[in-house]
Amino acid sequence: MRILIIGNGGREHALAQTILRFHKDAEIFVAPGNAGTAQIAKNIDYEVTQVKELANWAKDNKIDLTVPGPEAALVAGVTDAFNEQGLRVFGPDKECSQFEGSKKFTKEFLVKYKVPTAAYADFSAAQPAIDTVDEFDLPIVVKADGLAAGKGVLICETREDAKKEIREIFDGKFGSAGDEIVLEEFLTGTEASLLCWVDGNTIVPLETARDYKRALDNDEGLNTGGMGGFSPNPAITPKVRENIENQVLEPIINGFKSENLDFKGILFIGLMIENDIPKVLEFNVRFGDPETQSVLPRLRTDIVEIMNACIDGRLNEIDIRWDGNPSATLIMASKGYPETSSSGDIITGLDQLSDDVIVFHGGTAKENGNIVTNGGRVLAITAVDQSIEKARATMYKEAEKIKFDGMQYRRDIASL
Ligand code: AMP
Ligand code: GLY
Repeated sequence: MRILIIGNGGREHALAQTILRFHKDAEIFVAPGNAGTAQIAKNIDYEVTQVKELANWAKDNKIDLTVPGPEAALVAGVTDAFNEQGLRVFGPDKECSQFEGSKKFTKEFLVKYKVPTAAYADFSAAQPAIDTVDEFDLPIVVKADGLAAGKGVLICETREDAKKEIREIFDGKFGSAGDEIVLEEFLTGTEASLLCWVDGNTIVPLETARDYKRALDNDEGLNTGGMGGFSPNPAITPKVRENIENQVLEPIINGFKSENLDFKGILFIGLMIENDIPKVLEFNVRFGDPETQSVLPRLRTDIVEIMNACIDGRLNEIDIRWDGNPSATLIMASKGYPETSSSGDIITGLDQLSDDVIVFHGGTAKENGNIVTNGGRVLAITAVDQSIEKARATMYKEAEKIKFDGMQYRRDIASL
């Protein structure tokens, strides 16, 4: 079996590793990959948005299945490009990828199919948006419509601040991602990430996870791509789960069918939960990072079988099993993250880690025989154990063995 994974983060390393866990003899290629994927797969030198070139390469190299990791590839139409070549790919097409590529597209869908979400208004010019700011309670959430590398959501404590952000976005702060904006009511509660397998007809949640978005302990500091996580997420109680099934998942899948959206892949639902009521914050159309590094080590059913079933529309035939033990994941970030990142800092200690943890590389590269930093989120360390306390303790004990210049990580991941 020959599999191509597109991307270069911890998520992609986790996907490669999970595939190999079920298929020891699989040949895996990662475009462009990192120093971790190079140890278990073959890295190939393409950017994730070179979708036509990647499809040609996959055709020439007889790839059986392709798994795109990042939204940039999906929104650029990687699935359509591969389908045109008659290749199998696990991920939504360009049309369905608008659920991540456009916040307005998602909000319209959520409202149309009565999925609980924050009240909103959308705008394609600054002045009407500024004129509407007074109608919202504080804080006001200002969102650039398009992909803005995780920076396009601004929570404004004052109306002046909201107006300033609106002006800056329409002045081009996020490029064309800010050609339209969404203003939203601020929701309170507990956040949860729910990733779901989708085959066009059926939607099946993976085990739940929680992500820590802020850079610093106690949820302080800037928003990041995610500084750690754990699975399962106790905020999703049986009661909440039932509400999610009825109020969120069912209307979503019915909406996909009514709109003739043949969504195949992962739908990542960002939720805010308050008084057992789930409300949708956002959709992503791919595996989360670091949620994937927490969740996939717990998967006990062949991931290739599940992905193929999604592509073929027979997800309902698959019995998906999970390890009952919880997991915890710590992100080790480089100097300056999230505002900047650092490269070339030598990472030591990787060879001293015990088998009780799994290490996933994100921003790493190989340089003169050393493994060095090459981006913001450098490593993810995951421990799976009988209790979340044990998983957490093991994760932090092992993390102490890792050293690199400017290394930073949160100390409160998975402390419930
Ligand atoms: P998004 O990319 O839409 O998930 O937004 C990023 C983060 O901003 C979320 O994970 C939330 O922490 C926060 N956020 C987004 N929308 C809202 C909202 N309407 N109310 C409160 N927080 C929000
Ligand atoms: N951890 C959040 C994301 O992958 O978007």
